[in-house]
Amino acid sequence: MILRTHTCGELRESHINQPVSLNGWVNSYRDHGGLIFIDLRDRYGLTQLVFDKEDGAAQAILDNADKLRSEDCIGVSGTVRKRIGGENPKLPTGKIELVVTALEVFNKTANPPFLPDDYSALPNEELRLTHRYLDLRRPSMQKILSTRHHVYKTTRNYFDENGFLEVETPVLYKSTPEGAREFLVPCRNVPGTFYALPQSPQLFKQILMMSGCDRYMQICRCFRDEDPRADRQPEFTQIDLEMSFVRREQVMQMMEGFVRRLWKEIFNYDVPPLQRMSYRDALEHYGIDRPDTRYDLRIKDISETAAKTDFKVFKDALAKGADRPAFNSKRGVVKALRVPGGADKLTRKVTDGYAEFVKKFGAGGVAVVKVIKGEDGGPKLDTGIAKFLEPIKADFMAATGAQIGDTVLFLADVYAIATKAAGELRQQVARDMGLVPKHGEAGASGTAMTTPTGPWNFLWVIDFPMFEKNKETGKWVAMHHPFTAPRDDQRDLFVNADVNDDDTIESILSAGYDIVLNGSEIAGGSVRIHDPAVQGKVFALLGLTPEQAKEKFSFLLEALSYGAPPHAGVAFGLDRLVMHLCGTDNIRDVIPFPKTQIGADLMTKAPSSATDKQLKELHVASTWVPEARAEGSGPRAEG
Ligand code: AMO
Repeated sequence: MILRTHTCGELRESHINQPVSLNGWVNSYRDHGGLIFIDLRDRYGLTQLVFDKEDGAAQAILDNADKLRSEDCIGVSGTVRKRIGGENPKLPTGKIELVVTALEVFNKTANPPFLPDDYSALPNEELRLTHRYLDLRRPSMQKILSTRHHVYKTTRNYFDENGFLEVETPVLYKSTPEGAREFLVPCRNVPGTFYALPQSPQLFKQILMMSGCDRYMQICRCFRDEDPRADRQPEFTQIDLEMSFVRREQVMQMMEGFVRRLWKEIFNYDVPPLQRMSYRDALEHYGIDRPDTRYDLRIKDISETAAKTDFKVFKDALAKGADRPAFNSKRGVVKALRVPGGADKLTRKVTDGYAEFVKKFGAGGVAVVKVIKGEDGGPKLDTGIAKFLEPIKADFMAATGAQIGDTVLFLADVYAIATKAAGELRQQVARDMGLVPKHGEAGASGTAMTTPTGPWNFLWVIDFPMFEKNKETGKWVAMHHPFTAPRDDQRDLFVNADVNDDDTIESILSAGYDIVLNGSEIAGGSVRIHDPAVQGKVFALLGLTPEQAKEKFSFLLEALSYGAPPHAGVAFGLDRLVMHLCGTDNIRDVIPFPKTQIGADLMTKAPSSATDKQLKELHVASTWVPEARAEGSGPRAEG
């Protein structure tokens, strides 16, 4: 067998006249009469091969090998020479070519459904995922695999240098209410019981702190039975860490150091110190807890000005929860989004569409005001609600900061709805106005530096509320997870709070922190509860009776009672980090074998049905009767 002496990206002028062997895939084939050129490809690059038909040996080789075609896998030997037909400055190997004297075809390809090059149009994703082995041959996909590897390596180095131990935690785990729906695995040995796949190693890493591990890290798989999205997969990877004897400041420093190291290693880019924003400020100005600060559209609360109009929509909204404290989810507010230059750019059709858009987030509609030039040269409010706004025009202009040429959008509702809808609308408007920079472009504000896939607007979001009400059940849920501690200065308020005092419970801040990059949450963590009394109160608020808490978490509550150290930690979404580093908005691009929108692996055809024998062994019966199967043509059990 012809085994390679070099890779396809390696040969240079210094190799001229040397005998070498290469292995790889036929990337392209060109027949120039007497000469046949083949670009041979492997992970490292392309090398031009030349078969000279005038040369009797080469002719025999070609005859023997049948006609080579793209994606055949071959080995060749020959001698390196200076390129005769002109150099190719685009290729690192572009100064040389290999004159082939021996050829071995390892495997001839069937007709490939698509060619894995980066210049043809991408085939549809279903085809790419079905034939992932072809898709991954694409140089851009190989680059992603290599960046991903670089991230693993830098991560392990950084945390090792900082005294962390990598510890593996179980994948067959216990069902715990951490937030998302879990994947269950039936247990054969104990009929009727199930393992759950971990949503994250959260409790194990806390137990590791109670075990004296001091500093833990793991690159781990997490499982959440949620519908996949552009940045969410049911099976994904975290860089998970936990530290003992720290408060949030130490963890934040450690995380910032990691981000800085990663961007330095991959792009030689110095990430500036991360700005910090409170959850409240994020919601007030951006309507979301992961603001995209690459563009500067800001939401303003103009409730005070709006209260001066007789516009019924504003009045009705402001009447809601008027006795509640400011920022309370049930208190009525009027929010304004000023869009500079929107009067020209946002057409009537587009702004009409916003009314429908915000309904998805529970809001009733959007009031639209265009600020145009009046006959007197001053601003004129072009809007269906002009008669309400004209009397307070000066106030309106001052409160919104609007100028001629702008559009101002208004949302009036209770705080929770108006804020959420305004935040979503802000992002939609930014897309419509072309404000979202593409990868590699400088930020609209001009402040962000550009690297090959930047700009990078990193941000800390801190001071989250501990709890929020679940919309459907009306019950409290932990905003991060139930093991998150109140911020140190909020502990007493929390411990003494009446569980029925909704306004106080809603106001309590946690010691949680997220890192947001260009509007995407790349990491989240918190200081943990190390005091059983505080943990017990959290469980009570979440509606767990002491018996239920004991049944679910006896191991945690017990461990907390044996000298648990103060501890805190965080997890980065590794896939999301790689998405940013590689400049893609699609998480499936950075996961070698991802799942589709319905959680399927198209290549292996998982999930698949089980045989009756398998189900019986597991003491499981399926209640699902596929219609097609009843007709005899449904999915077959695999044996
Ligand atoms: P959290 O649930 O915030 O925290 O997850 C941490 C980070 O993981 C990433 N992430 C995801 N990435 C892809 N697909 C998903 N379905 C998905 N879900 C989350 C995000 C997120 O910021 N145990 C805690 C961490 C801690 O408190 O230490 C946890 O899992 O980037």
